[in-house]
Amino acid sequence: MDTQVGIVGAGPAGLLLAHLLTRAGIESVVLEARSREYVEHRVRAGVLEQGTVDVLTETGVADRLHREGMVHHGLELRFGGVGHRIALSELAGGRAITVYGQQEVVKDLIAARLDAGGELRFETAAEAVDPGRGVIRLADGGELRCAVVAGCDGFHGISRAAVPEGALSVFEREYPFAWLGILARAAPSSEELIYTHHDRGFALHSMRSPEVTRLYLQVAPDEQLDDWPDARIWEELQTRMATADGGFALNEGEIFDKSIAPMRSFVAEPLRHGRLFLAGDAAHIVPATGAKGLNLAVADVRVLARGLRALFEHGDEALLDDYSDRCLRRVWRVQHFSWFMTQMLHRLTGDPFEARLQRAQLDYVVRSRAAATSLAENYVGLELEDV
Ligand code: FAD
Ligand code: DHB
Repeated sequence: MDTQVGIVGAGPAGLLLAHLLTRAGIESVVLEARSREYVEHRVRAGVLEQGTVDVLTETGVADRLHREGMVHHGLELRFGGVGHRIALSELAGGRAITVYGQQEVVKDLIAARLDAGGELRFETAAEAVDPGRGVIRLADGGELRCAVVAGCDGFHGISRAAVPEGALSVFEREYPFAWLGILARAAPSSEELIYTHHDRGFALHSMRSPEVTRLYLQVAPDEQLDDWPDARIWEELQTRMATADGGFALNEGEIFDKSIAPMRSFVAEPLRHGRLFLAGDAAHIVPATGAKGLNLAVADVRVLARGLRALFEHGDEALLDDYSDRCLRRVWRVQHFSWFMTQMLHRLTGDPFEARLQRAQLDYVVRSRAAATSLAENYVGLELEDV
């Protein structure tokens, strides 16, 4: 055996799992196809649930998060040119979200891994996994023999493909739109996130710091970045986010990052096959509207780390046997919430009946305390024990 746990992928799932295992005295090797520079600068999500912040805090990797992250106690839903605040913390028992870029979490976890002297091999791609023997075959011809393999290699990784066809059930939905995301050197235009429903499509105002705004626009799924010069992006954002009273001013600034991401729901069940355990995007994808992808990856590896601890400390496999069912309950809760936010806020087919239903749902969410509470408790994230 070369190591107790072979971890494929140094995204949030793989890095946090390695960190939790180190703290439990379990040895692991992390393999990452890309360079350190690449993974530390890959711009993606930004909203951390309360439970995600808690686990990073409890395990000593949240000093910078608490210095630089921005704690939010509410968010705005804007439609018909009018904003409505959802008081997240008031409705969800004091829980809050923290806005802190995913690549900052990744940097903090890489630093912790290297400080602890743990093995983390960049530019080392896994080519295949043998779930029966626990062997990872490397692209350079080498092999890593492990008691357990954690497939944390994202949606396009190789781990999921190691499960034989027939043993895996796949549930999938592609949405007929994508998100164009930008980072701009501009002060945020509001203290909180703004989720905007507009006839021309969805728009989202988020942030990364007092000097950097993160913005998203619903675009067609086949749209190219070349079709979106900066001036067009700002014009579209200004149009969709404008308020009826003319009181909202969207700050503009230099755009220094631009990308387009598809919107999809995906679940592959079960999450375990032999010695292979899938976690994070390798097993499931949620549309970004619920801000859940990263948080779901964190929830998976928390459950996995507990199971591995019981295995290596006491030879007890009961928690690992329950890993897939335990995680899938949360995955489907979060799939539902992400689908709910997505279908409520985007321009769908243009069918006027559908548009009226959306408006009725939005009105209900901002007028009914019960409906707002449901949105709030899902958005800040349910406790691990409550799902
Ligand atoms: P990943 O972060 O994908 O990490 C997987 C790692 O495995 C990568 O570093 C990859 O290089 C590595 N890898 C892949 N194959 C191999 C191999 N064969 N060998 C070794 N290593 C390998 N979520 C939101 O909530 N909001 C957003 O705005 C948002 N935007 C996103 C934009 C994009 C373009 C993408 C792809 C995702 C976005 N997400 C967003 C989702 C969120 O970022 C993911 O849910 C999160 O990254 C999941 O973490 P992970 O560790 O499971 O996977
Ligand atoms: C961000 C991303 C999301 O998907 C979301 O729903 C809210 C915020 C962000 O990148 O800040």
